[in-house]
Amino acid sequence: MKVFSMAMLDIQNVSKTYEDNLIVNNISLTINAGEFFTLLGPSGCGKTTLLRMIAGFVTPDSGKILLDGKDITHLAPEKRPLHTIFQSYALFPHMTVYDNIAFPLKMAKWEKVKLNEQVLELLEDVRLTKYMSRYPHELSGGQRQRVAIARSLVDRPKLLLLDEPLSALDARLREHMHVELVKLQEETETTFIYVTHDQGEALALSNRIAVLNHGKIEQLDKPQMVYTRPDTHFVADFLGKCNLLRAEILGIDYEGKYLKLRVADSLEFDLFDLDVDTPNMYFVGQIGWYFIRPEKISAKKTDIDDEDLFSARVFVKGYYYYGGETLYEFLLENGTKIQAMLSNTKTEQSKFYTEESLVYVAFDPQAGNFLIK
Ligand SMILES: Nc1ncnc2c1ncn2[C@@H]1O[C@H](COP(=O)(O)OP(=O)(O)OP(=O)(O)O)[C@@H](O)[C@H]1O
Ligand SMILES: [Mg+2]
Repeated sequence: MKVFSMAMLDIQNVSKTYEDNLIVNNISLTINAGEFFTLLGPSGCGKTTLLRMIAGFVTPDSGKILLDGKDITHLAPEKRPLHTIFQSYALFPHMTVYDNIAFPLKMAKWEKVKLNEQVLELLEDVRLTKYMSRYPHELSGGQRQRVAIARSLVDRPKLLLLDEPLSALDARLREHMHVELVKLQEETETTFIYVTHDQGEALALSNRIAVLNHGKIEQLDKPQMVYTRPDTHFVADFLGKCNLLRAEILGIDYEGKYLKLRVADSLEFDLFDLDVDTPNMYFVGQIGWYFIRPEKISAKKTDIDDEDLFSARVFVKGYYYYGGETLYEFLLENGTKIQAMLSNTKTEQSKFYTEESLVYVAFDPQAGNFLIK
């Protein structure tokens, strides 16, 4: 497991307003040297605006941006030791792959032998050595994007900003590029700040993710944490399929640090290891949501006898076959919907639970958590 400790980029209380709308709302965050950091959020939440402030194309209304301890808030974009790759990357159509990649070095007047060495190394890194004499129109979309990435890395920037760089590519090519990007980032030891609205992409690529909503950070953590331990309803919902069931606190045990919950007006269980000491955080009678991912729920045709698991009788509402898994929609006896994602591990075609089936679901309550906002 990689550990990053050197703060490289320090964003302090940065805000930006457009036409009376607060687009970036007092954001503070620190990005470490060598990190693959992702800004994830829905369309319009302010990701590109924040990235453009880091790049210098947009000036914040307030707040500061420090790079290696130096205030760059008002520094011109071309003076910043970073590059930006946009969705619509522009290669020079009249230049070969080699010349496209060499361009920044020629502008910086690199000496010929060193320039050639550096371009050949980058060509190798993006596996385009045999395409170096081709022109952009003779390449596939994925290859063109690799040239754009090589060109952005050739003069060894400290920081590479990538704004949805793969969104023009088809799903298979995108997946392939994910592997390439992570390899390239590790090989060149460049710090990446990656913008996407695709949660799968963010989870697969990042060391850490900041989930943005309406110009604010809702949660900043490792991919496993934002996925399995979301802090808010929004993060839970945005990161993938989930059950968010109405829940009420029946009791708080300060000694044992647990909450007694009633979920979906019918299921009662305890949640452990909670921070019950923070004043006013929880109170008896408080209403929130119990969150649990569908893959944490299993289903059987007979009642499941395991004291660590909570089980309930359900009815089948429907199912969606995804190939590797099937998503079942069950109803509790009071009509509350509960989703379970079941793996199709059997060799024969999966036997689906039908509307007539008698089914029990079971889950470990600790696999989920209680959300109050
Ligand atoms: N120059 C501008 N003038 C006025 N409004 C702007 C300007 N730039 C961005 N906005 C607005 O700010 C909001 C956030 O835009 P931004 O481009 O940062 O969103 P985003 O998170 O990158 O979205 P997407 O995923 O669609 O790219 C949007 O409502 C947009 O219309
Ligand atoms: Mg954008």
